[in-house]
Amino acid sequence: MTTSAKEFRILALSGSLRADSYNTALLRAAGKLNPGPMSIQVYSGLGDLPLYNQDLEQGPPAAAVRDLHEHILQADGLLFATPEHNASIPAALKNAIDWMSRMPDGAGMTGKPVAITGASPGALGSVRAQLALRQILVSIGADVLAKPEVLVFRAHERFDADGMLTDEYTQNLLVDLLAELAGRIGRNA
Ligand code: FNR
Repeated sequence: MTTSAKEFRILALSGSLRADSYNTALLRAAGKLNPGPMSIQVYSGLGDLPLYNQDLEQGPPAAAVRDLHEHILQADGLLFATPEHNASIPAALKNAIDWMSRMPDGAGMTGKPVAITGASPGALGSVRAQLALRQILVSIGADVLAKPEVLVFRAHERFDADGMLTDEYTQNLLVDLLAELAGRIGRNA
């Protein structure tokens, strides 16, 4: 898809570092389903971030920290897909948010429209992780959409062997979520 000046730039962040992640596949599906007007970039650098340690703030930020910061600053909105690890968000995602929360305005997340989704093979569809993520993002002042809630439960039944989202119900929910995100960005612009 080509990018025009009128498109909103969406940065899509998966909380999973796994190659065959359902959550990353969900974000790829969002990129394909894109109802516009937006471009959706799936970010792949969360695994490169060092573990947050306040001592590291004495020196210049690591390249991976700067890269994520730049990507978030340049985005008009964010789309998170989080797995559920032990009833909360995975450490890699919390680590990234902790790093960004140390930047001015939460790396530009303060006031930025943010949509949340998540996938799990279990029956709860990452609901506890999504609630935890919402609480964290609200605490840094992100403009987190309340609805639609997109809980992708029994995720293994909704993707094919190539990681393509085949479930029409989930596809429609994703489109609704993206449309709501674009609407929120447009209203705030
Ligand atoms: C899990 N999983 C899991 N699932 C769930 O629904 N609730 C949970 O609390 C947990 N806890 C949990 C902890 C840890 C350490 C792992 C590795 C896994 C299962 C998890 O949903 C599953 O591995 C997903 O496939 C992870 O998402 P990705 O990597 O497919 O995006």
